[in-house]
Amino acid sequence: MLSKINEIRAELEALHAANVAEVEALRIKYLSKKGAISALMNDFRNVAADKKRELGQALNELKTFATERINNLREAASAGNDAADGLDLTRTAAPVRLGTRHPLSLVREQIIDIFRRLGFTIAEGPEIEDDWHVFESLNFAADHPARDMQDTFFIGRNPEVLLRTHTSSVQTRVMTSQQPPIRIICPGRVYRNEAISARAHCFFHQVEALYVDRNVTFADLRQTLLYFAREMFGPQTQIRLRPSYFPFTEPSAEMDISCNLCGGKGCSFCKGTGWVEILGCGMVDPAVLEACGIDSKVYSGFALGMGIERITNLKYQVKDLRMFSENDVRFLEEFTAAH
Ligand code: DAH
Repeated sequence: MLSKINEIRAELEALHAANVAEVEALRIKYLSKKGAISALMNDFRNVAADKKRELGQALNELKTFATERINNLREAASAGNDAADGLDLTRTAAPVRLGTRHPLSLVREQIIDIFRRLGFTIAEGPEIEDDWHVFESLNFAADHPARDMQDTFFIGRNPEVLLRTHTSSVQTRVMTSQQPPIRIICPGRVYRNEAISARAHCFFHQVEALYVDRNVTFADLRQTLLYFAREMFGPQTQIRLRPSYFPFTEPSAEMDISCNLCGGKGCSFCKGTGWVEILGCGMVDPAVLEACGIDSKVYSGFALGMGIERITNLKYQVKDLRMFSENDVRFLEEFTAAH
């Protein structure tokens, strides 16, 4: 067997090939399942036990050598001959595998698209904010619980600089830089100092909408909400507004939609109530308008804010918030054709 191994090795050393096709023929001759080296590997079973070590090693070396040799030949052949016979220009191109959109991007785009149809334009603000834009201008009393260290990430030791806890800060950024009419939608990432679990994360995404003009009323808000809910969750969707409290709106409300899983009959998702909460809203508090230099006797406005994760959960029943930031391809690929 050793002589056979040496013989093949000598053959390999002497090999040459004019083009890629010839290299492939050589690969088949030596390295395929039915090739010369596989045949030797088969014979190896019958080798006497005391020879196995030496011959086994020689065989392995032969195989490595052959693989290297064929690879070198292939490289040489294709380098010289690409334009001639190495490259088949008539061959169908290998399909390009498309990636998928992240579910949060998909839903954010859907939300923006709905508001765009109502004339809203996108506004953005910084994630690293100051106290005034996140809290002070939005009427948060100095001892409001949301200012507590537990909720807010501060940057360094300066209590004035923080990561925004909501996108409402973009409202005041825009209102201090332009006069009404203002009709903006503000998507963005927000941060809260929460322990990470299936139901809470230290960062998530919100979309804020703000409309300020002469004679904006609660009826405008309600109709906008109904339009949004039906565009987002289907024409059969019902909405209900419950009185609530936010420092920057008066009156304030929370909006529920009829449960899109059971259609309002009551199921485990809506805890038997038939309704699920999706956003907070209200009429912009006149004190907020004034703080931003807008005359509250002339102008009024409404605002609303929602969590993109929340809307995505409702649409696609993602049970664990952490899925959104773990980048598990198996999860992400489920959204290839989502709409
Ligand atoms: N900023 C609120 C939050 O983070 C959400 C919100 C509620 C935004 C009511 C609004 C609003 O614009 O009117 O929970």
